[in-house]
Amino acid sequence: MTIGVPKEIKIGETRVSMTPSLCRRCVSLGARVLIQKSAGITAGFRDEEYRVRGATIVGDAAKVWRTADLVLKVKEPLPEEYGHLREGQTLFTYLHLAAGPKLAEVLLKKRILGIAYETVEGSDGQFPLLKPMSQIAGRLSIQVGAYFLQSQHGGSGVLLGGIPGTMPGHVVVVGAGNSGAHAVQMAVGMGARVTVLDLDTRKLEALDSEYRGRVVTLMSNPANIEHEVADADLLIGAVLIPAAKAPIVVSKKVVARMRPGSVIVDIAIDQGGCIESIRPTSHEQPVYLEHGVIHYAVPNMPALVGRTSTLGLTQATEPYVALLVQKGVPRALAEHPGLAQGVNTRDGKITYDAVAKALGYA
Ligand SMILES: NC(=O)c1ccc[n+]([C@@H]2O[C@H](COP(=O)([O-])OP(=O)(O)OC[C@H]3O[C@@H](n4cnc5c(N)ncnc54)[C@H](O)[C@@H]3O)[C@@H](O)[C@H]2O)c1
Repeated sequence: MTIGVPKEIKIGETRVSMTPSLCRRCVSLGARVLIQKSAGITAGFRDEEYRVRGATIVGDAAKVWRTADLVLKVKEPLPEEYGHLREGQTLFTYLHLAAGPKLAEVLLKKRILGIAYETVEGSDGQFPLLKPMSQIAGRLSIQVGAYFLQSQHGGSGVLLGGIPGTMPGHVVVVGAGNSGAHAVQMAVGMGARVTVLDLDTRKLEALDSEYRGRVVTLMSNPANIEHEVADADLLIGAVLIPAAKAPIVVSKKVVARMRPGSVIVDIAIDQGGCIESIRPTSHEQPVYLEHGVIHYAVPNMPALVGRTSTLGLTQATEPYVALLVQKGVPRALAEHPGLAQGVNTRDGKITYDAVAKALGYA
C-alpha cells in the first residue's frame, strides 16, 4: 500500500496527518510512504525526520495524490484539490460532509472511499478521532475569547477572572461534551463565572460533581439559553448531533440582546454552526461584528497550536492507520465495525445516514 501525505492548504492550517513516528510504524508494517515536501514543517517536523524513518519526500502535491492508494490528510479536500482525487482511492481525513455538499458530490462522482475521522466510533460509542481536536478547540475557545474581549481588539474590556472587588466575566458554554467540558475547565481556571447548558443530564451531573458548585449547570432550553446568553461576556457554541448539521441553539434575537463588545466563539462551525448569526471565518480574518457582538468561527481552530494538535490527532489515528496498512482497506473495514462507521462515501453512495439526510440524499 502507498500512503500519500499532502501538505495541508486550508488557510492557516499547521497540522500534518503523519508524524515521523507514525511514518516509521507504517514503513515497518510494509507501507510505502510519500510525504509532500515541507508537509510537517509547521508542526515542527522536518523532511529529514521523515526521510530517515523510511519516507520518500515528493516536491509535487499532484504526484503525492496521484500515486497514493490511501491519502491521509487532516482537513477535507478543498476545491483546488478536487482534481487530484482519483477513482478507487481511499481518503482518510476529517470530511464534515453535512456542511460540504460540493465535496460530497465530488467524492460520489469519483467513487472515493471516504473514511471520515469524525464518525469513526470507539467501542464505548464515542468518537475517538474527534475527541482530541474537540478538547483542543474547547481549551482554545476561552483563550481566543479572552483575547477578543480585550479593548484593543474591539471587545468590551472585560477580564475573565476580574480582580477582587470586581465581577469576573460570565462565560456561557452551550454543549457539555468534549469541547464544552474543556472550555469549562479553562474558564474555571481563569477565574470566570461559568454556566454550562446541555440536553444530556449525565453530562451536567458529571460537571456538577467535578466542580462542586463552582459551575452552574442548566438544562438547554430556549428560556434558559435566552436568560444566560443575554448576560454572557463570552458565549461558546459547542453542541453536536453526530454527523448532522448543528442545530441552531441561539437565535439572532438573543444575540442582539448581548452587551456590545461581548464575544461568541462557535466551535461547532465545522458542522454549520449553532448560533443563528454565525458564518465561517478563517485564521486570516477570524472575527466579524454583528449586533455589536464579536463573532469568531474558525473551522480549524486546532491549527493555532499545530504541534500539540498534530501529536494529539496522530496518537488517536495511529491504531486505525496501522490497521488499514496491516490488513488492507477492505479487511480492516470488515473486521473493525468502529472503523467501518467512519465510511461516509463508498462506490458512489453516501453510506452514513445522518450525512445522507443532511445533504438530502436519503
Ligand atoms: N472549530 C473547530 O476547530 C473544531 C475543532 C474540533 C471540534 N469541532 C466541533 O465542535 C463540535 C462539538 O464537538 P464535541 O466533540 O464537543 O461533541 P460532543 O458530542 O462531545 O458534545 C456535544 C454536546 O452537545 C450536546 N447537545 C446536542 N444538542 C444540544 C442542544 N440543543 N443544546 C445543548 N447541548 C446540546 C450533546 O448532548 C453533547 O453533550 C463538533 O461540531 C465538532 O466537529 C470544531
